[in-house]
Amino acid sequence: MTQSHLCDQVHVDLKDRSYDIFVGENLLDNAGQYVQPLLRRPRTVIVTDETVARHHLPRLQAALKAADIDCDSIVLPPGESSKSFAGLENLLDQLLARRLERQDMIVALGGGVIGDLAGFAASIYQRGIDFIQMPTTLLSQVDSSVGGKTGINTARGKNLVGSFHQPRLVLADVTTLDTLTPRHRLAGYAEVVKYGLLGDADFFGWLEQNGTALLAGNRQKQIYAIKTSCLAKAAIVAEDEKESGRRALLNLGHTFAHALEAESGFGETLYHGEAVAIGMVMAFDLSVKLGLCPGTDAERVRQHLTAVGLPTRLRGDNHPVAQIRMTVDSLMHHMAQDKKIADGRMTYVLTSGIGAAFLTQDVDPEQVKTILAESLAENSA
Ligand code: GLY
Repeated sequence: MTQSHLCDQVHVDLKDRSYDIFVGENLLDNAGQYVQPLLRRPRTVIVTDETVARHHLPRLQAALKAADIDCDSIVLPPGESSKSFAGLENLLDQLLARRLERQDMIVALGGGVIGDLAGFAASIYQRGIDFIQMPTTLLSQVDSSVGGKTGINTARGKNLVGSFHQPRLVLADVTTLDTLTPRHRLAGYAEVVKYGLLGDADFFGWLEQNGTALLAGNRQKQIYAIKTSCLAKAAIVAEDEKESGRRALLNLGHTFAHALEAESGFGETLYHGEAVAIGMVMAFDLSVKLGLCPGTDAERVRQHLTAVGLPTRLRGDNHPVAQIRMTVDSLMHHMAQDKKIADGRMTYVLTSGIGAAFLTQDVDPEQVKTILAESLAENSA
């Protein structure tokens, strides 16, 4: 166990389903002290993937054993393919084979795929058991591990089957960010920028000053940015847990992003966070085109994303996405399958400036097509 560690805390206020998020250094090595008070009996099963297991499973196992907590582990193949009906069946079968009981605890150790899959399995295993999120990517630390969305993909799209099942605890250990590739860390950073853009202009200003140092590994700055992101998400989730309204703001840039990801095959060519970066620029450009947002704000967004190394366009940014054949029509087709369609109408997250996102259904599809066409043009206008 590491004696001293930098740590901060965020509370998610959801009445009897409230929980804490701890953000800090070496939390995995100290996991026993956080996990122990939540257990009804000292038995956990850790669900992780091969890559994460190689880097972090031994230290988590050692920490739990040191606190006299029994821990079994299930190590899945890495990648999005586990987040499927077949992957869910396999995981549930392994949990049943281990005779996990209702008073036991599942620990999801990994990125968004592991968190979403293990969380969904926890929500239906014997009609629901407790689970803890231990996110190991920047993306999952600031977004997917918080707020209780769980689920799997189907052949018809991402996250189309799932549940809301809140974790009992989130432990975000920033030392796990050291084992990510720089590209992976950067993709997660797009979701950090999202919180500044959607509701906190001061935070965006802070990121303009500190984003590069954070990405280079500065611990204090990482903890501050993750905590600030989680505070923003916790406030929105506390207000609208099941996404009947405001929670949809967290999808800034995501309607565009999901269409780009679908066109690029959800693979290595375009990471989710990179698609979100491009999607956020599209949301700002669309807002400018509709006369809702100053052009200078859209330019600031573009400049910051470019400064840290994220793509902002589908063509011309020297990014592998430029090799993917896609058209305005094919992208519009994917956008029409979005979960945010109500009564046949698409809800867009637009903005009146940095830190001022809002929801609207009042968007002319022709304007959306123009934005897509501009992003697909070889040279910026
Ligand atoms: N990732 C968006 C949400 O949790 O609502």
